[in-house]
Amino acid sequence: MGSIIAMEFASDKLRLIDQRKLPGAYAFFECATYEDCVFAIKDMVVRGAPAIGASAAYGAVLAAMAFKDLAPAEFRRRMDRALDQLNDARPTAVNLMWAVKRMRAALAGISDASQGAAADILKKEADSILAEDIAKSEKLSEFGNALVPHGATILTHCNTGSLAVPGLGTALGIVKAAHRAGKNVSVYADETRPRMQGARLTAWELLQEGIPGTLIADSVAATLMRDGRISLVVVGADRIAANGDSANKIGTFMLSVVARRYEVPFYVAAPVSTIDFGCPDGGGIIIEERCAEEVTEIEGTRVAPEGIRVYNPAFDVTPAGNITAIVTEQGVLYPPFDEAIARQIGR
Ligand code: MRU
Repeated sequence: MGSIIAMEFASDKLRLIDQRKLPGAYAFFECATYEDCVFAIKDMVVRGAPAIGASAAYGAVLAAMAFKDLAPAEFRRRMDRALDQLNDARPTAVNLMWAVKRMRAALAGISDASQGAAADILKKEADSILAEDIAKSEKLSEFGNALVPHGATILTHCNTGSLAVPGLGTALGIVKAAHRAGKNVSVYADETRPRMQGARLTAWELLQEGIPGTLIADSVAATLMRDGRISLVVVGADRIAANGDSANKIGTFMLSVVARRYEVPFYVAAPVSTIDFGCPDGGGIIIEERCAEEVTEIEGTRVAPEGIRVYNPAFDVTPAGNITAIVTEQGVLYPPFDEAIARQIGR
């Protein structure tokens, strides 16, 4: 069974499944310029930590195509600015900065005399990022599958499948691997207010894969865990600090508190590129705040009274102490995470 292909670079364009429109429409958004890529990341045409990193890498390719005939100094200046804009399109998922850093390093290795070939060279690097992401998600999913008991009922949050990650996914990749292994698993998917990634995207991916799934309002999770109806929780991450504190979609922290209270295993699944070695703990993670309309409106219809103040952080940080294990493509890490990350992953 293949995975959903959420991004493809062909005919000098990056073609993305437009995640804003699912499940109502299966439509594509074409990025013909790097500015289109910046827009696609900011507006969440593409979202999910590894997916925005890979999209930014192709954004760098589009920039090199656009600037290839400029004088070398101007080429470098414009490329730098484009990479800065891609880097800054969203602040929390470190995979974005990781991918842009790789593209900067590839660019730095290109001499002025080879400027004409820069787009081709950068395209090879972007293709490598995409291919590596796919391979990493397969490995991570298999490592995670080993933690899933037969017949498990799995709770997940946000969308961490093939739409968010080139390949199988992270948290949802583990669910898919367990399902494909015939483990008879089923899923409770949080709707994930306010952007509804669970209702719109995870529910859609579960149906595509034929995995038994039940959609719940976010506030139902505690009742399910108290009643012993959840075998394990598995979520993705946008940035993991060196001590294991993990940023993920808003609401994840609350799930982790309940899981700890009712002794439900709580797993975080992410590639090593999500670990920010420069960030000692979760206090250093920048949390994106998004616009008020995401909370005051539903599908463009105002549901809250005019004049009310809104607080809309897109992510929260789950303390390492609430995490049972972190699943990466290099293996499963157990507490104490600072030691496990330093010993098993290193830099
Ligand atoms: O705001 P989003 O939809 O980009 O947030 C995505 C998440 O929080 C995912 O759980 C995270 O990126 C991990 S996906 C592999």
